Amino acid sequence: MSDQSQSLPVLDFGSQTAQLIVRRLRELGIYSELLPHDAPEAQVRALKPLGVVLSGGPASVYAEGAPQMPAWLVEADLPVLGICYGMQLISRALGGVVQRPDRHEYGPASITLSAAHPLFYETPTEQLVWMSHGDRIEALPAGFQALAANAATPFAAIGDDARRWYGVQFHPEVVHTEHGRTILSNFSFRICGANATWRPAEFVAEAVERVATRVGPDGRVICALSGGVDSAVAALIIHRAIGERLTCVFVDNGLLRLGEAEQVIATFREHFQIPLVAVNAREEFLSALEGVADPERKRKIIGEKFVRIFEREARTLDNAKFLAQGTLYPDVIESSAPDRKKGVTIKTHHNVGGLPPDMEMELVEPLRYMFKDEVRAAGLELGLPEEWVWRHPFPGPGLAVRIIGPVSHERLETLRRADAIFMEELRNAQLYRATQQAFAVLLPVQSVGVMGDGRTYADTIALRAVTTDDYMTADWARLPYELLARISSRIVNEVADVNRVVYDLSSKPPATIEWE
Ligand code: XMP
Repeated sequence: MSDQSQSLPVLDFGSQTAQLIVRRLRELGIYSELLPHDAPEAQVRALKPLGVVLSGGPASVYAEGAPQMPAWLVEADLPVLGICYGMQLISRALGGVVQRPDRHEYGPASITLSAAHPLFYETPTEQLVWMSHGDRIEALPAGFQALAANAATPFAAIGDDARRWYGVQFHPEVVHTEHGRTILSNFSFRICGANATWRPAEFVAEAVERVATRVGPDGRVICALSGGVDSAVAALIIHRAIGERLTCVFVDNGLLRLGEAEQVIATFREHFQIPLVAVNAREEFLSALEGVADPERKRKIIGEKFVRIFEREARTLDNAKFLAQGTLYPDVIESSAPDRKKGVTIKTHHNVGGLPPDMEMELVEPLRYMFKDEVRAAGLELGLPEEWVWRHPFPGPGLAVRIIGPVSHERLETLRRADAIFMEELRNAQLYRATQQAFAVLLPVQSVGVMGDGRTYADTIALRAVTTDDYMTADWARLPYELLARISSRIVNEVADVNRVVYDLSSKPPATIEWE
């Protein structure tokens, strides 16, 4: 799929961290994609690989039905790095012996290098790695030598320099492997001879080209702008590809934060010459949500309403045939591998993808091959203002899922003002970017307080701030007490009807980031 002149594809044998390998390689400036382990040779070759990485995986190489080494790869003159299961596959495919020892090795471990080797260039003789394996290699295939070992794993790293095939029993892609990044870098640059060419200007240019090809010389596109970084970057890429044949639509659903709608519209118009239709649908959303307390019903109502309004606007826009969607590469990976199907639905996230098929629009997905950090880098490259690039994500259903219980004008107003104080103080403390998401939640709990000489019986605001890499798991942010004290004091003094502020100390799992 890529027009890149070089890449290091990762073949996916099912490890939870396979996607991370791709990310790490991209961070090094090398284009990579995650492909199924049995991808046809032509598909891998189309990426002009300088080498191939075999991911880890949950299987045992001798188990019935276990994914095997692609036969074509054994014959190909390409460097290979096998990680964990990938290394055991190398061993099995080339005549070594893999066995299941009594003891699994899992977690941090120390390994010792046997001798200096390009794969471990600029890393110490003793180093900490992250192991996670059941099987291990007992005898090496011909031509291979041990590059590192420890007591539990005699072949912690192996290599055949003539063939340029290497294997590591640990996971260099996870941060717990101290020198993992250097090891991946050594494989890429020293062994495969890659150059770091995957840079923002490069991936923007590639996405622009892809959009231009997809939309053709006279297709028109509409793009729903949400205020978040993804839809803005998608719009800028499309605009660069097709100019004024793009129209953006911003729907103000009345569930946005203080001054947000005005700010998004003004900033966008100020910085970019892209037609923007702003729709004020506040009352429509609010009346549809009246009296609704169930979170999933709220999401459904908001999703559907959005679709209807969007459809209505789209019909007035001279026959746009294409609809832009901000699908990111991790979504593509998740949905393309059958064995990676998501489990139970915890929350039905709504986005424009829920549009009905009778809308007869085709999708354009300019971010389809990008990770979130690449989207941000692309945003900077395209001139998106810094504050926009680094904005925390905001859920589609907006403040409706941060007001526990029914949504009303009054409760929206209360939450907006509390949230604005929280954000202002967080920014003043220079901690906005140190947290990946932070917001206020309005609880359906009134409690007794005392203000002046009087008793109050008023609302509770919960403050939520998290640190996370991927929003799949998260930890609560250790914000300084002084900051929390200032925010709390300002909220109870400045926001009518709030007399109590609490701080959420839950991680995800078992909690989620949002409260609904
Ligand atoms: P949770 O609460 O599931 O959130 O830990 C993970 C991330 O997803 C965002 N989120 C949503 N985004 N529509 C969205 O577009 C939704 O319905 C929705 N629910 C949660 C949440 O803000 C966090 O970034």
